[in-house]
Amino acid sequence: MTMAVATSIELVVNGVRRQLDVAPHHTLLDVLRDDLALTGTKECCLVGECGACTVLLDGRSVDSCLVLAVEADGASVLTVEGLASPDGRLSALQAAFLDQGGVQCGFCIPGQLMSAHALLADNPHPSRAEVEEGMAGNLCRCGCYLQIFAAIDQAVAGKAPEVRAAGPEIHAAGATAGARTTAEGLDQ
Ligand code: FES
Ligand code: FES
Repeated sequence: MTMAVATSIELVVNGVRRQLDVAPHHTLLDVLRDDLALTGTKECCLVGECGACTVLLDGRSVDSCLVLAVEADGASVLTVEGLASPDGRLSALQAAFLDQGGVQCGFCIPGQLMSAHALLADNPHPSRAEVEEGMAGNLCRCGCYLQIFAAIDQAVAGKAPEVRAAGPEIHAAGATAGARTTAEGLDQ
C-alpha cells in the first residue's frame, strides 16, 4: 500500500501566514480544526448541506468540508475566530446575535456568522428577502432563524448593543475554539 504524500501549502488564516504539510485528501476543514486547532469552525454533514463549516476563502463564503486543503494553497481564510478584534471585542454582528437571542445550542452559529459576514460585505443593506436568500445554505436545528435574521437586521441598522468584552458569551457566539461537537452541540 502506498502512503499519500504530503504537500506543502501556505495559507493566511485570520491574518497570520501559516505553512502546512497536508495530505492530498485532507479538506480545508480538516486543516483548520486538526492542524491549526481552530475548532470554532464546526464539522457536521461533511457533504455541503448544513453550512456549519462555512469560512471565507479569499472573501467568498465556502463550505470548508468541500474544499481540499491543497486547493486553498495561497489563499486567505477567515474563520469565526477572526471576527472578534484582537483584544477580544465581539464584532457588531456577533453582539447582535447575542442581543437577539439568535444563539441556542450554538452549534450552527459560527457558520451562520460567517455567511452573514460575507453577505453584509457584499451587500451592506440587504432586504429581509436578500438576508433569507443569503442565509439559505445555513441550517439551524434549534430553529433560531427568525432571531438570526433579526440579528442581521440589527447589525445592518447599526443598532448593535455595546460591543462586549471577551468572556463565556463569546463561546456561545461561536467565536472561540472548542471540542469537536455534534449537530446537537454535545462535546465529543
Ligand atoms: S459540514 Fe460542511 S456543509 Fe455541513
Ligand atoms: S443554535 Fe443553531 S443548531 Fe442550535
